Formats: sequence, structure tokens, C-alpha cells
Amino acid sequence: MTNSNAYIVCEDLFKIYKIADLEVVALRGLDLVVNRGEVVAIVGASGSGKTTLLNILAGYDTPSAGKVAVGDKDLLRMTGKDVELYRREDVGFVWQQTSRNLFPYLTALENVALPMMLTNLSTKERKTRAEELLELMGMGRRMGHTPEKLSGGEQQRVAIGVALANHPPLLLADEPTGELDDATAGEILDLFGEVNRELNTTIVIVTHDPDIAYKVGRVVLVRDGKTSTEIRRRVSYQRITGEAQAEADLEEFTLVDGAGRVQIPRELLEELKIKERARIVVEDGKLTVVSGD
Ligand SMILES: Nc1ncnc2c1ncn2[C@@H]1O[C@H](COP(=O)(O)OP(=O)(O)OP(=O)(O)O)[C@@H](O)[C@H]1O
Ligand SMILES: [Mg+2]
Repeated sequence: MTNSNAYIVCEDLFKIYKIADLEVVALRGLDLVVNRGEVVAIVGASGSGKTTLLNILAGYDTPSAGKVAVGDKDLLRMTGKDVELYRREDVGFVWQQTSRNLFPYLTALENVALPMMLTNLSTKERKTRAEELLELMGMGRRMGHTPEKLSGGEQQRVAIGVALANHPPLLLADEPTGELDDATAGEILDLFGEVNRELNTTIVIVTHDPDIAYKVGRVVLVRDGKTSTEIRRRVSYQRITGEAQAEADLEEFTLVDGAGRVQIPRELLEELKIKERARIVVEDGKLTVVSGD
């Protein structure tokens, strides 16, 4: 069913958190395919399951059921050792809290070099590579500074450098611009675009940026733990940019899962007065959904 260029494949993914007797279904049958080298933005209301999805893709959390594969790795079948290697070599992660991404007592250069400690690179090679990455992040002149001497935007630049230290094919970011002002947020999105272009990194980015659809090739909306609708550019795939391209021609699709399910947004259900039952009528090759209550 999925194309050969697919890099991330989630099928019917479930995550249930149990706290004492209480069960919280954070993901309920989520499907998502991300192609190699693609940039996808994930949006959705608070509590819809965005962070849960990212944590699973990062190998920080395991799903309760379903399928999730990244490259040739089945994330449900990995041993502890595999997971450790996967986290080190295959994914980079950027958190919203700038402070969480960096060690406060290390310089930018030391922060970026740190994840390379477990590789067999020499000290000199680690330093050279960290310098190259910081150059790419536009931080070439501030490598010797500790995080407290850097602005929020600069800290996120370094954080992206840290995430890319071991040249992972996948970069995940959970609201990386959430604590930044609009202009700085735009610059950081531009930087993600540059990383995608320069290193061909596949990027999944969770964001609340209302203009994100004008800045990336594809936006996926998560609703109640399931991918629900998708916004794509009508023109051929374009890279992520920090500046909204108002002229971009967007198309919105409702996603149909493997079992033929679609989600009808609550607002529409209310508008159409659909409660528990609907009638589906096929007419001229079109489906019409009307209330059956
Ligand atoms: N460790 C946990 N234990 C119990 N419940 C959890 C845990 N993590 C998340 N949840 C619950 O799972 C659901 C999805 O949470 P998640 O953090 O993935 O949402 P989100 O879309 O990232 O929200 P936000 O936009 O606020 O960051 C929520 O109902 C949340 O309360
Ligand atoms: Mg979250």
C-alpha cells in the first residue's frame, strides 16, 4: 500500500497510558506516512497526541499496539540495545523548552560535540564536525558561549546542531519555536528548511504556528489521537520556509484510514445535526453524508 520512498510508516497506532485505574488513550489508530527527505508539520489541539507520536518516533516511548517503522527499523520489535543505537544514530530531537536542549555549563561547541562522545571519532574530528554544524546553524561566531549568554533563538540554533551531531536521517521537533517571538520563529523554521536542503534530513515538526501551511509542503492535523485531515500545496512540493507564502495554493483533504474510516469534524457534525447515525448516499460518483437521527 505504501510507496517505496516511505521513510516513516505508522499504521493503526495506539498508545494507552495507564495511571492507577485510569486509562488515557493518547493515540487511537493513527496512520501516517512520511517520505524520505520530506518535511511534515503536525498540528492539532492540546492533548490530541502530537507529543505522544513524536516520543514514539524518537524511541522514547513504545506504542501499545499497531505498527511503526522508521527506515528499515520496526520500532515495536527493537531490543533495549537497538533502541539506544536508534536514538543515538537515527534521530535528532529538539524540544520546545530551549533550556531542556542544552547543558547550561557547556559552551555551544561542547554541547554539539557531546553526542559524538559515544562514536569512534577523535577529539579533533568531533570538534571539526561540531564547528561545521554550528557554521551551518549560523552560530559560527558564538561557539564559545554558554547558553545563558545566548538568546532563545540562538539557543534553538545550537539545539538543532546538537540534534544533528551524529547526522541522523530523521529530525523531530516538538514545538521548537513555541517560546520564540514571531520573527525569530520564522528564522528557526528557515533553518529547518536549510537543514532539509543541505543534509536531506527528513523532518517532522509539531507546531502551533497558524501560518505553517503556507510554509511547508504538507501539514497533517491530529484530532483525538488520529490523523484527520491533511493540507497540501497544489503546486509541486516545496521546501519549508520561515516566511508565509501567501500565494501558495493549498488543498485540504480528509484522510481515509485502512479500515475506511474518516473523521467528521465536530463543528460539521453540529452544523449538519449528525449525532449517532448518518445516511451515506452515493450520487454521481459523490458521497453525501446526512443526519440519520
Ligand atoms: N505520560 C503520560 N501519562 C498519562 N497520560 C499522558 C501522558 N502523556 C500524555 N498523556 C495524555 O495523552 C494525551 C495526549 O497527550 P500529548 O502530550 O501527546 O498531547 P499534545 O497534542 O502534545 O498536546 P499539547 O499541544 O498540549 O502539547 C493527553 O490526554 C495527555 O493527558
Ligand atoms: Mg505536546
